[in-house]
Amino acid sequence: SEKLPLRNKKIIVTAGGTKERIDPVRYITNDSSGKMGHALAVEAWKRGAEVVLISASHLATPDYITRVPVESAEEMLRTVTDEFDDADAVIMAAAVSDYAPATVEKQKMKKKDSLTLSFRKNPDILKSLGEKKKPDQLLIGFAAETEDLIRYAEKKLNDKNADLIIANDVGKKDRGFNVDENEVTMLSRKSEPVTISLRSKSDVSVEVIDWLVTNMN
Ligand code: PMT
Repeated sequence: SEKLPLRNKKIIVTAGGTKERIDPVRYITNDSSGKMGHALAVEAWKRGAEVVLISASHLATPDYITRVPVESAEEMLRTVTDEFDDADAVIMAAAVSDYAPATVEKQKMKKKDSLTLSFRKNPDILKSLGEKKKPDQLLIGFAAETEDLIRYAEKKLNDKNADLIIANDVGKKDRGFNVDENEVTMLSRKSEPVTISLRSKSDVSVEVIDWLVTNMN
């Protein structure tokens, strides 16, 4: 119906900052709270979608949302891949760590005078979905940038074979990571960039899900 345009659609949303283990009690992560992804999941649900929220965040979720908790990028990749086949759209709002410690210590590391860690590259989840996506699946990614926002976002749109990239300036305190509001620019191949001025993450989500509804077959 008009009110529930995403009825019978399965939408995967990822959220939060992945945690990459160093030892049993330590990890590296980033400032993502999960607020953006969780707001998108709620908005997709409001339009009638079946939502699978794959979240690395500690935020609570309403019980009508199916939530799969994950910790690392590897775990997020496995979970998203398992759910992808029958999904109609994926929204990658998670801040996926680009690197993980090259080795994970089995025991808590002992204190030394100094410590050097080495890292390996994590899988690029969005890119791997872009490589296997079917023509009727929509792929939405973010581009979190502190400089040259639009240029880097356009590059991600192409490199990752996404249908929409949401360019997010993360160099300002009042938007982006770990706050309630956001300002973004939506970039697609079909139309001119659209800027969603500063507003609550719920209101940003309304615009993003409107795009999804318009572009879903
Ligand atoms: O969680 P909040 O506190 O509400 O903050 C929201 C947010 C700023 C985290 C969110 O709006 C956002 O921008 N998320 C994307 C963060 C990010 O990892 O951006 P990126 O430009 O590094 O990555 C580009 C895209 O590829 C993203 O969709 C990301 O999910 C995906 N990616 C990145 C790395 C990787 N190894 N695999 C991926 O799939």
